Amino acid sequence: MNKIAVFTSGGDAPGMNACIRAVVRTSMYYGIEVFGIRRGYNGMIAGDIYQMTSHSVSNIIQRGGTILKSARSKEFMTKEGRQKAFEQLQKFGIQGLVAIGGNGTFTGATTFYDEFGIPTVGAPGTIDNDLYGTDYTIGYDTAVNTALEAIDKIRDTADSHDRVFFIEVMGRDSGYIAIQCGIAGGAEIVMVPEVLTPISEVVETLKQGWNRSKSSSIIVVAEGDEEGNAAEVADKIKARLEVDMDIRVTTLGHIQRGGIPTAYDRILASRLGLGAVEGLMNGEKNVMVGLINNEIVYTPFRDTIRLPKPINEDMLRMVKILST
Ligand code: F6P
Repeated sequence: MNKIAVFTSGGDAPGMNACIRAVVRTSMYYGIEVFGIRRGYNGMIAGDIYQMTSHSVSNIIQRGGTILKSARSKEFMTKEGRQKAFEQLQKFGIQGLVAIGGNGTFTGATTFYDEFGIPTVGAPGTIDNDLYGTDYTIGYDTAVNTALEAIDKIRDTADSHDRVFFIEVMGRDSGYIAIQCGIAGGAEIVMVPEVLTPISEVVETLKQGWNRSKSSSIIVVAEGDEEGNAAEVADKIKARLEVDMDIRVTTLGHIQRGGIPTAYDRILASRLGLGAVEGLMNGEKNVMVGLINNEIVYTPFRDTIRLPKPINEDMLRMVKILST
């Protein structure tokens, strides 16, 4: 394999640039020509592809976002779209791909390989940390720290005004961000999609706090919680509370997707980028490179796509114990 391409796809995540840098520099080191594809699969279809050099990735390790830009491509979901993408890759003589993204990205890569035989190694890039086959995904650590900083600030004002705050963090199907920043931020309750926290339980915890003259409380809600988003959960609670608590809702939203990547994310991204290129060189295909117990491992896309990554329920138990 002497020509490969790298692209970022799906929701961006801090550290993606560090991963692109590692892919490019590792390729150069091994004498492989490397191309960048802009805007994920959309750019592959449009032929928005350019040759990268060591210089193309100078001064990006510390930058959030992705210099290659990202997209969620509808056209790549069609056979015609994938056919166009294949023709573009052929024009450039590209024989292998490094896809930095999440499960949607890897599903597309699997279908593409079945139809056109272009091998892909994926690097897990998503703030959600919801991918089976790696302990951590690129961007997760930064997102947790961003959310935590916001929670700390909200706690100041919550305390000044004796208020209860419902803070919504990202995680459509995953409570990883919520648990981590909830614990670190000293939240009274953390609500996640994987485990149902009944409204009655939240009401009970708040009442107990009120009876102990607890002046303020923080409830972290993952956006995909079964009881609804933070605003919906807050409305349900208000309807059931007999005491007059002063309640506010804050949705952190896309602030969690940007910013300077933490040292952890930069190092993780660098290791995974290097691992992705070495994987392709060693004949890996349709696999995601991940880090498990600090070791590089390759997990088939079919498993990363199919298998859930369970949260550690003991952490939720800890939230309850430590908030009493
Ligand atoms: O990339 C993951 C994620 O940030 C989820 O946590 C969130 O639900 C989703 O992307 C938001 O996607 P978009 O930026 O397309 O609105």
